Amino acid sequence: MQTVQTIAELRAALEPHRRSGSRIGLVPTMGALHAGHLALIHQARSTCDVVVATIFVNPTQFGPNEDLDRYPRPLETDLQACGDAGVDLVFVPSNNEMYPPGGRFLSLAIHELTDHLCGATRPGHFNGVLLVVNKLFNIIQPTDAWFGQKDIQQLILLETMVREFNIPVRIHRGETVREDDGLALSSRNRYLTDEERSRAPQLNAELRGLQSLILTGALPDEAALAQALAGVASRLRANGFRIDYLSVVDERTLQPRERVDPRHRYILAAAAWMGKTRLIDNIVLQSPG
Ligand code: PAF
Repeated sequence: MQTVQTIAELRAALEPHRRSGSRIGLVPTMGALHAGHLALIHQARSTCDVVVATIFVNPTQFGPNEDLDRYPRPLETDLQACGDAGVDLVFVPSNNEMYPPGGRFLSLAIHELTDHLCGATRPGHFNGVLLVVNKLFNIIQPTDAWFGQKDIQQLILLETMVREFNIPVRIHRGETVREDDGLALSSRNRYLTDEERSRAPQLNAELRGLQSLILTGALPDEAALAQALAGVASRLRANGFRIDYLSVVDERTLQPRERVDPRHRYILAAAAWMGKTRLIDNIVLQSPG
């Protein structure tokens, strides 16, 4: 496995593969790798001729009071994990390499898809995500790229960017990887104290409960859905969660839905703070019929 820090080195390393028409798979990450990232790398490994992983804690996607400074950066362990998982090339750029001093003049505006869910409480977050992934796509020019479904809004925005900007990359969705008790894996789970960790799986358990109520037709109208959501919110609060959002949104538009229509696909999505840790989770659901 080769590790490179500069765009020039990365392009030089990829050039022969590009010329020979290899399928180049990209797994962008911010490091602090867990089994969810490794599952994406394994999928890329089994699909592509060359696998590139990036490790870059992207400053433009963090708000001023967020966890940029304390975000975990266990680089040696991450590089070892990449090597073990079969990555060919790891790109670990500096901030200056990705954002050279001298100013940035372009940004990506996102309409409507960020009005709700994480976009509502993390203003600017997705502009930063789209900016950095757009740059990585231009720098690496992968044929395929993998992103986890845990960050479903990010995934849908990236799919939209690729579609609307005609970027020739195929995006693959990686299923959310969970602990045995249902907690979605996240690099931020390591912020949880033992006591918080023991309560954290309730978020997923409540979403699964709602999922089965919706899919069995037990929430046929607006009032029933609203009551069920209120019940979940109140149980989560009673267990110490501070809810950021809990909603059923349309999978295509990400707009909240007050009742579910069997002809559409929905996302049941939640974000909630447990102490100083913001947990997110979602379930993509298709009503029967
Ligand atoms: O999901 C992440 O880890 C990040 O948002 C990404 C896609 C690597 C961009 O920095």
